[in-house]
Amino acid sequence: MLNIKGKLFLAPMAGFTYKTFRSLCSRFGADVTITEMVSAKAITMGSQKTKDLISFSDDEKIKGVQIFGSDPSTMAEAVKIIQDEFEYDFIDINMGCPVPKVVKSGEGSALMKNPSLAAKIVQEVAKVSRKPVSVKIRKGFDEGDANAPEFAYIMQESGASFVTVHGRTRSQMYSGKADWEIIGKVKERLRIPVVANGDIVDFESAKRAYEMTGADGIMIGRAALGNPWVFLQIKEGFENGQITTMVLPHQKIKVAIEFFKDLCAEKGEKMAVLEARKHLGFFVKGIENAAKIRDRINRISRAEDLIGYLENLSIELEQKAKMLDNNIEAEIF
Ligand SMILES: Cc1cc2nc3c(=O)[nH]c(=O)nc-3n(C[C@H](O)[C@H](O)[C@H](O)COP(=O)(O)O)c2cc1C
Repeated sequence: MLNIKGKLFLAPMAGFTYKTFRSLCSRFGADVTITEMVSAKAITMGSQKTKDLISFSDDEKIKGVQIFGSDPSTMAEAVKIIQDEFEYDFIDINMGCPVPKVVKSGEGSALMKNPSLAAKIVQEVAKVSRKPVSVKIRKGFDEGDANAPEFAYIMQESGASFVTVHGRTRSQMYSGKADWEIIGKVKERLRIPVVANGDIVDFESAKRAYEMTGADGIMIGRAALGNPWVFLQIKEGFENGQITTMVLPHQKIKVAIEFFKDLCAEKGEKMAVLEARKHLGFFVKGIENAAKIRDRINRISRAEDLIGYLENLSIELEQKAKMLDNNIEAEIF
């Protein structure tokens, strides 16, 4: 039995939450981490590239593998392969992906329009899975047919161990406000635990999300990008009533350098440089001259040069912080 009460989840995010980033977030307090979504069909076809997405670090605590697809027997077949080859704690089924290519194939959020097929998938997967099976859904497909409570109930009855609800419809994609009220309705309806997701960005919103939804756990996605400290800060808020971890710009860059070095080990230097550009764009958010820094980073193509640039940047930012500190002291005395 998986205990997810009070747990902080890092949301699965394709193209971002590979091993190195999940590991970083785990070191800063994420309790549950999930792979990027992996194609069940590709697994059954023996794709090594897809299997490579299922790799965990020792820092990760409770680990999930997220699969997507629309054919119940393929999904079950994929789970049989995954459980024979990998160590993890639960299987998560993606029923929220809004991407047109996925939806057109009847996968991801399209399953919310087809509850009987979705039920069959969960039944077949739960039948073969030695680990708990969870489902990640949205508020609904469209605003007019926001069916999360009924749909989640069907997932429970089909064998799901818990359900994560992203409080946006498929039509909203990632914009507009997440509807926490409907997550509360899902929670009222179900016996199994519910994880709330969407627009949780800091301790204040985490607290409100728990209060409004009554959820058992919460999941953070975009707010963790370039900001893995968000987990630690939320935990501090709940444990001490105040946040003590404040991360200065040069400290952010120092963490980003270590992250990049680990990324080189995971993906090889060439790929890591390309991947790092996305992450570093988030790490430098809010830092003075962020646009210029980003532009410079995007033009660096060698790992060694990128590390050199970031090291100099971190020294520069540290000096600025010290000067600022001295000025404040000078004003006080
Ligand atoms: C770039 C990106 C990739 C995503 N990939 C996945 C995915 O592979 N599987 C999934 O279930 N959700 C995926 N999501 C959705 C997130 O898990 C999450 O539900 C959504 O971002 C809302 O949470 P947030 O407001 O905290 O970001 C993705 C979101 C983003 C922004």
